[in-house]
Amino acid sequence: MKICCLGAGYVGGPTMAMIAYKCPDITVTVADINEARINAWNSDELPVFEPGLDEVVHAARGRNLFFTTDKVTAIKEADIIFVSVGTPTKTYGAGAGKAADLKYIELCARDIAQYSDRSKIVVEKSTLPVRTAQGLKTVLEANSTPGLDFQVLSNPEFLAEGTAIEDLSKPDRVLIGGDEDSEAGRKAIQTLVDVYANWVDRDRIITTNLWSSELSKLVANAFLAQRISSINSISALCERTGANVDQVAYAIGTDSRIGPKFLKASVGFGGSCFQKDILNLVYLCEYFGLPDVAAYWEQVIVMNDWQKSRFSQKIVSTLFNTVNGKRIAMLGFAFKKDTNDTRETAAMYVGRDLLDEQAVLAIHDPKVSPEQMFKDLKESRTDADGNPNKQIDVCEDPYAAAKGAHGLAIMTEWDSFKDLDFQKIYDGMYKPAFVFDGRNILDHEKLRKIGFEVFAIGR
Ligand code: NAD
Ligand code: UDX
Repeated sequence: MKICCLGAGYVGGPTMAMIAYKCPDITVTVADINEARINAWNSDELPVFEPGLDEVVHAARGRNLFFTTDKVTAIKEADIIFVSVGTPTKTYGAGAGKAADLKYIELCARDIAQYSDRSKIVVEKSTLPVRTAQGLKTVLEANSTPGLDFQVLSNPEFLAEGTAIEDLSKPDRVLIGGDEDSEAGRKAIQTLVDVYANWVDRDRIITTNLWSSELSKLVANAFLAQRISSINSISALCERTGANVDQVAYAIGTDSRIGPKFLKASVGFGGSCFQKDILNLVYLCEYFGLPDVAAYWEQVIVMNDWQKSRFSQKIVSTLFNTVNGKRIAMLGFAFKKDTNDTRETAAMYVGRDLLDEQAVLAIHDPKVSPEQMFKDLKESRTDADGNPNKQIDVCEDPYAAAKGAHGLAIMTEWDSFKDLDFQKIYDGMYKPAFVFDGRNILDHEKLRKIGFEVFAIGR
């Protein structure tokens, strides 16, 4: 069997690497139009940082896992084609700011139709609005050689960045949606079930109709993000009342009906999925005439935006209502630990707020490149005369970032930040030295004993 995947991003790359790793008899080819990305997948410096990914890629690459820009051959040879391209929020026209932009998906469908000379299974791996499969099938049928059959399946990906390899090797479940009402549809579903059954218990592979599968992905992300916004809303109440949000989260999370996960109060959730997928859900609800349902879910985003801006306002107000010219150390820039991804990271929004207030940002992140930080902050590295940007100092070392700073903000929960020598950091900072722990990962009592003024979320 031959599998191809269009899109070698955070999902396509690791997901296909895992299939190839677990199924040595299947040839897996990942095709992307971005040549630099493909070159990186073929090098020792993979384009995605994920714990354990290097080992999986090295075991399978060249054996039954291939990365290529030649999508035509990849499509022609494949029995199953995964589509794992981006589905960002639309920035133009109808639905701008909410609906998913499906142009990359449609281009893939047109390519598949044009280059296929036999029937194939097409799998939606990207996160898509419910009923996209219908449009996909129409495009495939209208543009292909008559007589070919394209079975469209929905197989959304539930991996989280930073734990992708763990999530892919031991998934809570694999979801496969297809046309359950036809013989060909059921056969296609079974073909994909058999691929995953190479390493996933059969009772963890859920099969549904197409629309349930497509919608479940958006709903899963909406429920997860909703828990974070809920606990973040409570964090503000804790700050006013003397309750401690981590104690509240523990107390409610031990109720087995609530459960302990996704109750960590923070500076706000980031990542490429939660906001985009909830906005897409909101758009769909509006489109299908359900404004009250739309408003309910939109509040999850409103609360998250408020949490991020509340954090930057707290920094400014605590530093005597001015950060003009003051150095603020930002530890962490990725949207969570163990990833180099910065899409929708809270650090970007807090950073932009502080730059508007004319602060000097000294940023350290173990995995994010300076180029990415400048891009996200909408700043250039040099001014018109070629001198370095004076507002942003990217530091390889957290101590260098903190030296001469008035405040230190924890933006990402990297484990390495917990064990820093905070006495040394304190000694190098202006006094009073403020710590803003946006992730509640530090030992606040210890910091206070050293002499820091500590602001934590929800305490
Ligand atoms: P990404 O931007 O990292 O990767 C998408 C890739 O598709 C890019 O490398 C791009 O060059 C390539 N591409 C675009 N058009 C193409 C074409 N016509 N042919 C071949 N390649 C093409 O995106 P991602 O984070 O991997 O997300 C992909 C999808 O998976 C999205 O729908 C996303 O919502 C969903 N998803 C993402 C995550 C996550 O954690 N990142 C998790 C679950 C689901
Ligand atoms: C999410 C979903 O978890 C995953 O199933 C889906 O496939 C893609 O979207 P991801 O965005 O990679 O995964 O990471 P996740 O662990 O969900 O974290 C998202 C954001 O929420 C991060 O910024 C994280 O720091 C934040 N978060 C998470 C909290 O603030 N508190 C929590 O309790 C959990």
